[in-house]
Amino acid sequence: MTKEALTLYGKVAVMVVSLGGFLFGFHLGVISGVLTFLPNSFSLSVSTEGLIVSLLLIGASIGALSGGFLADRFGRKKTIIATAVIFTLGAAICTMANRVDILIIGRFIAGLGVGLISVAAPLYLSEVAPPKQRGAIVCINQLAGVIGIFFSYLVVFFFSKTGDWRAMFAVGMAPSLFLMFAMLFFPDTPEWLLAHQTKAAATSALKRLRKDLSWKSHFDEMKVAASPQKDSSWRHLFKPDVRFALIVGVTLSILQQITGINGVIYFAPKIFATAGYDLATTATLATVGIGAINVIATSIAVKLLDRAGRRPLLLVGCAGMAVALLVLVFAFYFQLSSIGVIALVSLLSYVGFFAIGLGPVPWLFLSEIYPLSIRGKAMSVGITANWFFNFVIAQTFLDLILKIGSEGVFFLFAVLSVFAFFFIRRYVPETKGKSLEEIELHFSQLKNRS
Ligand code: BGC
Repeated sequence: MTKEALTLYGKVAVMVVSLGGFLFGFHLGVISGVLTFLPNSFSLSVSTEGLIVSLLLIGASIGALSGGFLADRFGRKKTIIATAVIFTLGAAICTMANRVDILIIGRFIAGLGVGLISVAAPLYLSEVAPPKQRGAIVCINQLAGVIGIFFSYLVVFFFSKTGDWRAMFAVGMAPSLFLMFAMLFFPDTPEWLLAHQTKAAATSALKRLRKDLSWKSHFDEMKVAASPQKDSSWRHLFKPDVRFALIVGVTLSILQQITGINGVIYFAPKIFATAGYDLATTATLATVGIGAINVIATSIAVKLLDRAGRRPLLLVGCAGMAVALLVLVFAFYFQLSSIGVIALVSLLSYVGFFAIGLGPVPWLFLSEIYPLSIRGKAMSVGITANWFFNFVIAQTFLDLILKIGSEGVFFLFAVLSVFAFFFIRRYVPETKGKSLEEIELHFSQLKNRS
């Protein structure tokens, strides 16, 4: 039998859908640069600045909450196309805004796009992937996301000489327009088609996307999973066969955020400044260093997820994050003379360890563990929690530093990383190489544990 694999057409579909991840990273990353130049056009209070940043995250929470319902009801493909329209609209409004309130509306709309795509893209990718490559294929979306963040820094750098913040936003329109048109050429996922359209449509999609014949043996399992008798209402989420998976998925999503990654990503220059770096150096270190490590370590995760498995990467990642943070706490607490170098090395290691485990795996895991009948809705719940806690960290990080000091905040993140380690060891199963239907069975058999 041929090795499980996507056709060339299937690989192009994966690339196109991953543009969604790229756009998500771009919109998150571009704002730190834009904020530097907005005062050239508008007078901004600190709270307005806060709103410009945080409304994207609020929009993302709402987008994520509706994304699952839309993807289950109208299909993964149509949801992705609609999201691309929303991204284009959000970027266009931000580009043309002649008042701050209009800019804020544009950010909110882009945020809806970020939330919707954060559900729809992993869902599409996990359903078209052959089981043995699912880790890598879903993780490509995360890789595209960190490349999107990195690319946004380059765009800001490029336009920073003229301070043209409108051009910075405008760049985001090109990939979203491309996504919108390109997606028209690809089918919806075989699983969604089987559940909502005809067997013939699902078979034809599978044949076009997958080279191997192994899907034939999954077809019967898929048929059972897609059976119309299955309850697809929100209530099903709290029934015993799904409850345990729901709790594990939501907890993992929250742990991804409360272990502090976005405190570092959004405020790295400020952290480096407290470790004694001057501002010009810190900006370069924060953007280039952290952005590059994130891309490199995520590429390593793409290679390893289907070989080493999800659990080892999560466990090594969380342990590494905790150690890197504790070293940083030690240096801050004792005000070591080498604090500058220690801060640099430990923060880069922290981001690297995050990017091989707790960065990509929760996204992958959420797309794998729920029954097909309610997969979109269940993912929505975990991903909404993710965006909400992203918002909470963005809002509280600087205040927390003022109240309990950098060492206090990083100690808290270290303790939470240790907690994440033990939680994963106890509750997160290995999903490497299993079909989505086998994973569904595993969780439904655990119903007595929840
Ligand atoms: C997280 C984002 C974070 C990014 C950094 C993602 O997995 O969900 O909140 O900004 O990783 O690489």
